[in-house]
Amino acid sequence: MEFPFDINQIFSERVSILDQTLVAGRRSAERPDLQGHIATVIDELGRASAKAQQLTAPITSASKLQSQRHQLYLLKDGESSGGRGVVVGFLKVGYKKLFLLDRGGVHIEAEPLCVLDFYITENLQRHGYGLELFDFMLQHKNLEPMLMAYDRPSPKFLSFLAKHYSLTQSVPQVNNFVVFEGFFFFNRSGL
Ligand code: ACO
Repeated sequence: MEFPFDINQIFSERVSILDQTLVAGRRSAERPDLQGHIATVIDELGRASAKAQQLTAPITSASKLQSQRHQLYLLKDGESSGGRGVVVGFLKVGYKKLFLLDRGGVHIEAEPLCVLDFYITENLQRHGYGLELFDFMLQHKNLEPMLMAYDRPSPKFLSFLAKHYSLTQSVPQVNNFVVFEGFFFFNRSGL
């Protein structure tokens, strides 16, 4: 995804972690004009993700990120577009209090880290970028994918989780979240 401004000037790292502050490193904290560009990038990514998932409205936008305690991992390719860089995709995660059913149908209250939105630009899908971003987040959070919950995962994302992390056995829920075998072994915080 290309923009009419220099992506490398805004995002210095290959993966940037954004939160409520919409700041991507020291440079953007000092430059309010760069924050406007960051908001443009997030809004554009959110719209593209919603379109790819056939959602009626984006679940990711700069204003939503500012008002929610979520984290957005943004991956760029700094070499492309004549050295200005392109945005490859993003992964949004956040903690949510959930009421879930374990394998025996017992209600469990847990507050796991959830994958809320995930998108790699169309022309770059199936090139390993999703895996790179997801692995970065797992290392940053020091977490196993089995311990996370997934908000309305798309068929592509379910295939991704099966392929890369062998997550195939989900435990049926009555909400939109998907959790896999093993989740309840470590997430038994309360009954
Ligand atoms: N059809 C089926 N499976 C796919 C597809 C596709 N078009 N694209 C990726 N996958 C899965 C497959 O398992 C694939 O392995 P394979 O090529 O051997 O079949 C694997 O992902 C490839 O792994 P990566 O290259 O690392 O994944 P990618 O960079 O494509 O990122 C992602 C995966 C984020 C799901 C991407 O395909 C995408 O943006 N899809 C559209 C938006 C979407 O569905 N996002 C998930 C929303 S649900 C949520 O966020 C909770």
